[in-house]
Amino acid sequence: MNSKVCIALDFDSTAKVVEFLDSFPGGEKLLVKIGMEVFYGQGLEIIKTVKSYGHDIFLDLKLYDIPNTVKSAMSQLAKLDVDIVNVHASGSIAMMKAAIEGLEEGKIKDKRPLCIAVTCLTSLSQEVLNKELLIDRTIDETVLQFAKNAKEAGLDGVVCSPLESKLIHDNLGLDFLTVTPGVRLKDDSIDDQQRVTTPSDARVLTSSYIVVGRPITRAKDPYATYKKIVREFEGE
Ligand code: C5P
Repeated sequence: MNSKVCIALDFDSTAKVVEFLDSFPGGEKLLVKIGMEVFYGQGLEIIKTVKSYGHDIFLDLKLYDIPNTVKSAMSQLAKLDVDIVNVHASGSIAMMKAAIEGLEEGKIKDKRPLCIAVTCLTSLSQEVLNKELLIDRTIDETVLQFAKNAKEAGLDGVVCSPLESKLIHDNLGLDFLTVTPGVRLKDDSIDDQQRVTTPSDARVLTSSYIVVGRPITRAKDPYATYKKIVREFEGE
C-alpha cells in the first residue's frame, strides 16, 4: 500500500473529494477510504476519480447479508480493482468465506483485493454490547472471537480499535492485519468515537494501518495534519 495512514474521505460529493485531494501536493500517493456516504451518493464515478490520482482505495461498504448475496456482491466489487474491501464478521464464517470466493471469481488481476472484517464498531461501548445487543461478553472477548472467525474464513485481517490490535496480533500473528479507526491527536475532539487512541499509541499497540477521517478532513491544514499523523504513527 502507498501509506499506512488511510484517510477516510467522508464527503457528500465528488467535488469535495476532488477539492480535498487537490489540496495535497501532487505526486504523493495516498491510501484513502471511500465509505458509504460518498459511494452511495456518487457511485462508480468516485472510484474512477480517486483512481485517476493513483491512490490506493479501501472501499468501506461493510457487507452483511446471506453468503450467496455477499459472494455475488464481492464478485462485482472485485471488478472495480480497489485494494481493500470489507464485511461484518458477525455475518458468520460462511458469509466471510463466500466473500473471498466472490473476490476470487471477480478479480481482474492476479491478486484479489484484500478483505478485512469489521469486528465491533469503535463507536460501540461495553454497555451497548451487553444491554442492547445482548452479547454477554467483554469487547475484547467479542473482538478476538470475531477476528479468529475471520482468520478461519481466510480473510486478511480485521477492522478494530487500536486498543484491540495487540490482543489480536498476540493470538493470530502479526501478518493478520489490524486496520484501526478511532484515532485522534492528543487535543482533538473524539466526535462520536468511544474507544480512541493517538497515532503513537496505535503504533505501540501494533496497529497495521490506521484510518483517520475528521481530524484530517476538518483540519485547518489537512496536509500538515496528515504528515504529523504519519510521523507519529511511523515513529519518525
Ligand atoms: O472521522 P473519523 O476519524 O472518526 O473516521 C473514522 C472512519 O472509520 C469513518 O469513516 C468510520 O465509518 C470508519 N469506521 C469506524 N469504526 C469502525 C469501522 C469503520 O470508525 N469499526
